[in-house]
Amino acid sequence: MSQQVVLTGIKPTGIPHLGNLVGAIEPALKLSHSRDKRALYFIADYHALTGLKDAQLLHDYSRSLAATWIALGLDPNRVVFYRQSDVPEVFELSWILACFTPKGLMNRAHAYKAAVQKNQEDGEADLDAGVNMGLYTYPVLMAADILLMQTDWVPVGGDQLQHIEITRDIAQYFNRQYRREIFTLPEAMIDESGAVIPGLDGRKMSKSYNNTIPIFANPEELRKLVFRIATDSSRPGEPKDPDASTIFQIFRVVATDDETKAFRQLFEQGIAWKDAKEHLFDVLNRRLSGPRERFRDLIDDTAALDEILASGAQKARQVAGETMGAVRSAIGQTVE
Ligand code: TRP
Repeated sequence: MSQQVVLTGIKPTGIPHLGNLVGAIEPALKLSHSRDKRALYFIADYHALTGLKDAQLLHDYSRSLAATWIALGLDPNRVVFYRQSDVPEVFELSWILACFTPKGLMNRAHAYKAAVQKNQEDGEADLDAGVNMGLYTYPVLMAADILLMQTDWVPVGGDQLQHIEITRDIAQYFNRQYRREIFTLPEAMIDESGAVIPGLDGRKMSKSYNNTIPIFANPEELRKLVFRIATDSSRPGEPKDPDASTIFQIFRVVATDDETKAFRQLFEQGIAWKDAKEHLFDVLNRRLSGPRERFRDLIDDTAALDEILASGAQKARQVAGETMGAVRSAIGQTVE
């Protein structure tokens, strides 16, 4: 049996943080090591453009995201790792798929509906205010990413489920029209193993709450952030509930089981918050210092990173070329 294709896109819209690491990056990397799957991971820079128009930021986020994944263990020799904008077939297919996408399907997409609802709540006369066509047709571009590579599985968070359903719908419209299985029907792979961790203020760690710890903060910065984690007013010597503590919740996802057990005991014995933070900083710094160094090397060596992405794009374009051959022939552009 041929290998199953696993594909996922990562949007470069910010500096990757610990929540991304344990919730998305680590599970995806683990999946990429499985032998019976062929993994394709890409930087979805043209998806980011729907909201991010600052050229320098888009450039920096894209490169640092690529460097982050490689520094954390993505092996570009085993995973086809590319930048979406380096594969022009994605955009060609996107137009073709748009011609098979009922407008009503886009009206029902969550992100668009949320924008309309916000306009409604704000008393905005034009319900489409602030909505560009990139945002509106975002699911079509995503369908192109997925279908172009004949993807079987798409590991994504629950918020992306609707996009996978839309992708399947579009693929079926196309296949039915031409009475051929041109596109593989993808399935979402929702991984529940990813951890959710709290951020500095105790709410879920998220860019939108501005409570994150960047993965590659330098040690001084990292220590400063750890010391900003919110704690209750219990005093040194007073027993503390580890399960209610942000410090402990972050600690347990980076430390070994034995360390976590010992840390739990220290909480029960009333460790001072200051000392608990010192422990957390130590395990974080130990876990991240190797990847941090690799990250810096990759960011500094522009040519090496370019080379990795170029070689990924080349591999992706091989698959893309095959799919587009079948698509062009199906729609009547070329005759077989
Ligand atoms: N929309 C996804 C997100 O916001 C990113 C993405 C773009 C993607 N294209 C994709 C994910 C294709 C999976 C497959 O996270």
